[in-house]
Amino acid sequence: MSLDSYVTLGRSGLRISPLTLGTMTFGNDYGWGAGPEESEKILATYLDRGGNSIDTANVYTNGHSEKIIGDYLAGRSSLRDRLVLGTKFFCNLHPNDPNGGGPSRKAIVQQLENSLRRLRTDYIDIYWLHNFDPVTPVEETLRTLDDLVSAGKIRYVGFSDVPAWATAEAATIARLRGWAPIIALQLQYSLLERTSEGELIPMAQSLGMGVLPWSPLHGGMLSGKYSSANPTTTDTARTWAAAPTEAELVVIDAVNALAEEVGATPAQTALAWAQGQPGITSTLIGARRIDQFENNLGALDVHLTEAQRAALNELSAPKLNFPAENNRQLARMLQFAGATVDGSPSAAYPPLVENDTRY
Ligand SMILES: NC(=O)c1ccc[n+]([C@@H]2O[C@H](COP(=O)([O-])OP(=O)(O)OC[C@H]3O[C@@H](n4cnc5c(N)ncnc54)[C@H](OP(=O)(O)O)[C@@H]3O)[C@@H](O)[C@H]2O)c1
Repeated sequence: MSLDSYVTLGRSGLRISPLTLGTMTFGNDYGWGAGPEESEKILATYLDRGGNSIDTANVYTNGHSEKIIGDYLAGRSSLRDRLVLGTKFFCNLHPNDPNGGGPSRKAIVQQLENSLRRLRTDYIDIYWLHNFDPVTPVEETLRTLDDLVSAGKIRYVGFSDVPAWATAEAATIARLRGWAPIIALQLQYSLLERTSEGELIPMAQSLGMGVLPWSPLHGGMLSGKYSSANPTTTDTARTWAAAPTEAELVVIDAVNALAEEVGATPAQTALAWAQGQPGITSTLIGARRIDQFENNLGALDVHLTEAQRAALNELSAPKLNFPAENNRQLARMLQFAGATVDGSPSAAYPPLVENDTRY
């Protein structure tokens, strides 16, 4: 696979690379990112290899991430239109201004204008609601986004980190009203955080939304610099991050071992796992340094067999919220659809109730 093996995003005609460049690390303003020069190297490497999908947010390094991208694009005017540039609104960059962030009409329009200015562009390809606000009526948010599509200021709408029930409600309203649909979700998803498999990913598959997993290395834990033999590392700028737990180290050790078996790095193995999971469209890759980024791009060359994937899946299986497990257990009841109690059940399935003499 390569960065120019473009895939359509959700139920839309928008084509993006199988790995999206995450730029939360652009700007070293907080001491754990990449300075402008290193960020530009990462951008150039991604684009040279055929990548077309870039993700940022108004809040990343307080707008600096957007500015680094905007400055890079400004000198390369022919580049902008071939990119799928995404940014997010929600987080308030204006202390003491109650309308400085959030998903109200006033706040969205203002946040968009500021992002356009920093990114030095006239439009955003994917405008993401970054988080969930239970207060603002979802119709207000959706109608505003639809107006912005009509005005040519944004092309598509995405949701990030919003509960499944609220996303499904919003998607249904948008569809019934003929407003711009939600074509994609950003979700935290990795071998160490799989609970999105309960509600969010099945919803995305059912409603035609692509999924972009974020923190696919769990903030670096799956990059190979941790193991049960070495549960701490000095090679990280994420000094606030918690050390892996015992349970996480079991999964981390398995990834490290599989990486050796397949001749890849642990980071590549963990990213290839994420990208190959059901429902996933394009994995967000983040890096603090160009060498990390190049390592991560190598995930495109890693193919896990079904058996290797199944082993990782079993080891990292999450405990999902009700009713996921209940319904998995009861899924075999489907075999009876259309039959009567007198019908003969498939030999492949055991009786639902042990020793039930009817069968
Ligand atoms: N929608 C949302 O709410 C949301 C939330 C978070 C992120 N995102 C998006 O997702 C992107 C990726 O998230 P993330 O940065 O958390 O991803 P991640 O891949 O889980 O973590 C990236 C961090 O891991 C370390 N790392 C990465 N590759 C490495 C390698 N090959 N070897 C060693 N260490 C490596 C680096 O940190 P150190 O070297 O300092 O350890 C790097 O900053 C972001 O850039 C952003 O675009 C979205």
